[in-house]
Amino acid sequence: MQTKELINKISLGYQPNKNEIIKILRLDKEDENLSYLFYKAEQVTLKYCKDEIQIRAIIEFSNYCRCKCAYCGLNCNNKLIKRYRMTIDEIVNTAFEAYEAGYKTIVLQSGEDLWYSKEKICEILKRIKGIGDLAITLSIGEREIEEYKEFKKTGADRFLIKHETADELLYNKLHPHSNFKSRFQCLKELKKLGYQIGSGFMVGLPWQGYDTLAKDLIFLKSLEVDMAGIGPFIPHPETELKNQVKGSTFLTLKVVALARLMLKYTHLPATTSLGVLNELDKIAAFSSGANVIMQKVEPHKYRRLYEIYPSKLKVHKSILEERKDIEKYILKAGKKISFTKGDSFKIK
Ligand code: 5AD
Repeated sequence: MQTKELINKISLGYQPNKNEIIKILRLDKEDENLSYLFYKAEQVTLKYCKDEIQIRAIIEFSNYCRCKCAYCGLNCNNKLIKRYRMTIDEIVNTAFEAYEAGYKTIVLQSGEDLWYSKEKICEILKRIKGIGDLAITLSIGEREIEEYKEFKKTGADRFLIKHETADELLYNKLHPHSNFKSRFQCLKELKKLGYQIGSGFMVGLPWQGYDTLAKDLIFLKSLEVDMAGIGPFIPHPETELKNQVKGSTFLTLKVVALARLMLKYTHLPATTSLGVLNELDKIAAFSSGANVIMQKVEPHKYRRLYEIYPSKLKVHKSILEERKDIEKYILKAGKKISFTKGDSFKIK
């Protein structure tokens, strides 16, 4: 099948096999089919997700982590990083300020930090839900099913837990403290509990090939995720992978575009890591399938400590000023701003 025909078929619902996915991911910059891929990804976004970008506020409330992820700067073997935990009041006050600035989704993210017990997380959820009509996404890693159940009951609407790589052997190598099966189990349980689920993976991890990326896309499709974060791998100096090559932003954009063609309604963020490597590629993501952006809102003194991967921090501005900047950035990219909570498009 010709590449153009393949792209058309996928936009219409055909599920590509591994080889067909690889064929598209291999398109190079000179190939005319490449611009067709991005064009089609934008058309599919407009059809299924409209031309509005969802802006979410993310509160990275603790950088303590019990995990040993080989790529992540928060891994518990990193003794150089200064650890912090936000108090419940600080978290709720930040959420309130974000809500006042116009955010309708609050993402609560942290390392896997069991200091925040089930009770503490529930208190945070209850108090944030009390602020107004907003959606809460939890991104706190692997917990007991009982806890997930309780969080859902208390007000968590969505859960973000990336599968990181769908290659089971690679996953297990990069996560010596855990394994792929338990990650997969969490995703399935969360879905069963009625959460809108988010997953995703990194592009350019060492030992990852085009076939791994094909597996990642097929995995997301089989899970029917509501959101998928796809970003380039960035080596962090305090990790085992410090000497590895960073992921390609070009390849990441192709993966995002193909994800849009395959997943249709799924929310796809222009990931922060994409912007860290290349700000222009982050803007380009909005015309290649992405329809979500996440903005950190925790106090600036904590942001520099939440260093999953090295990144430059911007000048200190208020939550409202930063929100206004993002709105301008979206309009400049030729898109509109969504003022809804941004629930899954799959919820009818
Ligand atoms: N490079 C890129 N992304 C990373 N993440 C963690 N470490 C890195 C890194 N070095 C991503 C993972 C994780 C999310 C919070 O950040 O996908 O799920």
